[in-house]
Amino acid sequence: MRPQGVIRRKRDGGELSPREIAFFVHGVVSGAWADYQSSALLMAIFLNGMTESEQQCLTEEMLRSGEVLDFSGVPLAKVDKHSTGGVGDKTSLVLAPLVAACGACVPMISGRGLGHTGGTLDKLEAIKGYRVQLDLKEFREILGRVGFAMMGQTESIAPADKKLYALRDATETVEVIPLIVASIMSKKLAAGLDALALDVKTGTGAFMHDEDKARELARGLVATGKRFGVKTEALLTDMNQPLGRAVGNALEVKECIDILRGDCQDAARPVRDLSVELAARMVALCGAEGSLDAARVKVERALETGEALERLRRNVEAQGGDPRVCDDPARLLDLTLHEVRVESVRAGFVTAIDAAEVGRAVASIGGGRIRMDDSIDPSVGFLADAKIGTEVEAGGALGLLYCRNPADAEEASARIVAAYTVGDEPPRTLPELIKEVIT
Ligand code: URA
Repeated sequence: MRPQGVIRRKRDGGELSPREIAFFVHGVVSGAWADYQSSALLMAIFLNGMTESEQQCLTEEMLRSGEVLDFSGVPLAKVDKHSTGGVGDKTSLVLAPLVAACGACVPMISGRGLGHTGGTLDKLEAIKGYRVQLDLKEFREILGRVGFAMMGQTESIAPADKKLYALRDATETVEVIPLIVASIMSKKLAAGLDALALDVKTGTGAFMHDEDKARELARGLVATGKRFGVKTEALLTDMNQPLGRAVGNALEVKECIDILRGDCQDAARPVRDLSVELAARMVALCGAEGSLDAARVKVERALETGEALERLRRNVEAQGGDPRVCDDPARLLDLTLHEVRVESVRAGFVTAIDAAEVGRAVASIGGGRIRMDDSIDPSVGFLADAKIGTEVEAGGALGLLYCRNPADAEEASARIVAAYTVGDEPPRTLPELIKEVIT
């Protein structure tokens, strides 16, 4: 078999056989396929799509390109959550301790932030000393002892995805559903899960702006999870404004700990609500509770009794971080930063927010990465006080920006102001946090 034949078949709109897909994925990992050949096939897939069986086969081959983790030594149901990413999207830090406190375990393999979106690993590293590079033995031990453990992607998990994602990024072939499904699910299925909840975001700060496309992605992810024997559900959720109040790593961790401490500001309410709903679905899906209603009650109790906060404390301690942040979350803040009030130029109602631009403004002052090798300033960020529907005065606060120097502040502040649309009339409807559940 030659790469040219496989490329030709897809270029001409044909269906690839399982052997051809295996040949491609093996060739990507071994280097037998040149990057220009892989890129040509990716573009052909982008233009002509894939059938369900091709997509399933691609997922399976990518999954099998690396190691499938085995946590069978941990005698608890294993469940994880994956979010397609957004701005201020911090639910993992709330829901993992909640699920652990409800008797399931969460082996969470997370990523770093890039562009306008944040990443769980960067948020965790805002806690002084917190280690996200664990070996599998230590990861398993913490998982069994605490109920959740967090680490970065290893080289051995789905190596085909690493190579293919870099090629897709360089050839504008990221946004095609079968390739996204295979990419996400090959990594998630490698974690040896019983159940998986997906948070598929849609809106101005999401990877998928278009709601119908996001729905199609959610359906593809759920169908693929089920085909591989993992109980899978997806929530289609709003990303038309930053989730909660905080954008920026330390500020986001503080918001999560505040929620776990029962100290939830109004602007942070959507983080609490979405985390509780995702956690309840995870607990029910993996069978740690018999029904969704019972799981919701159990999750709320774990939050109210402080049991989830206690799980977080134990995890932070086990992963080398300073557990005192759980008692005094203000320890996460850097009080030497400049605090700048970001002001609306006119009076009216916030009718829209370009959430991605808010994320990029925070990245531009060091809070995120423009390139994968950029370093991060964990302390800087933005507290988004005005949300869609908020009435503001001319000169009234949209939020507070925390940055290292005043020059940064001016540019980032102007970008954030421009990201907010303020109109004369209130918006006719407010965005719905959870738009749909796909089971
Ligand atoms: N996230 C992934 O992991 N893969 C994709 O293809 C897109 C988003």
